[in-house]
Amino acid sequence: MRVPFIAGNWKMFKTIASAKVFADEFKDLKANKEIKVAICAPYTQLAALVEAFKDTEIGVGAQNVHYEAEGAFTGEISLPMLKEIGVDYCIIGHSERREYFNETDEAVNKKVKMLLEDGSITPILCVGESLEVREAGEEASFVEEQIEKDFAGISADKAGNVVIAYEPVWAIGTGKTATPDQADSMCKTIREKIKALYDESVSESIIIQYGGSVKPANSKEILTMGDIDGALVGGASLKSEDFKGIINF
Ligand code: 13P
Repeated sequence: MRVPFIAGNWKMFKTIASAKVFADEFKDLKANKEIKVAICAPYTQLAALVEAFKDTEIGVGAQNVHYEAEGAFTGEISLPMLKEIGVDYCIIGHSERREYFNETDEAVNKKVKMLLEDGSITPILCVGESLEVREAGEEASFVEEQIEKDFAGISADKAGNVVIAYEPVWAIGTGKTATPDQADSMCKTIREKIKALYDESVSESIIIQYGGSVKPANSKEILTMGDIDGALVGGASLKSEDFKGIINF
């Protein structure tokens, strides 16, 4: 049985002060089912959130990490730095990082490998096609290729520890949600690709989230699909009531 996992991605929103206000409202979360929940916040807010959620089951995640442990990389943050704060998750390869910060599959692969080898922070690996790719009917082969490149050199005993987030770029922040069938069909394609790369025990246990305009009004129809195990939520994770509504779908 895969336990559903819903994570918020705050992107470049909130301050330490407003993150603390959210945490105060959110930490009494009473989920109506067995579920994992996390907030992935900007670096400056992570320590405050780890502290605020320390007596709860709510996890905390970063949104990026460098693939070297240390070095002359001005502006970057390393895995030892995140471990020191005590974060549980790290988003890797979000489409906004791929698009605006030229993050390649090669860099994404190095980051995922590093996190898996260390084992203390779970990668949430984002994949997904642009509108152009979908309109050309090439979305399945595009996402399969991302999976192949991002999992290169990762062994079967570690691969299942990755959380995959399928986020079609055309559905992010646009209000255009993929239909439940479109989202489920791609999550199934990803699961089959994982089975082809590894085996059925990995593909049946790996968590695959959907992300892109998930909100309280549509979370149930998306999250009850067979191959969708959770959600990566942007805008609607910024308000505690909305995020609770998504979790208690
Ligand atoms: P929205 O939920 O705002 O569309 O963002 C999705 C996303 O990019 C989560 O990582």
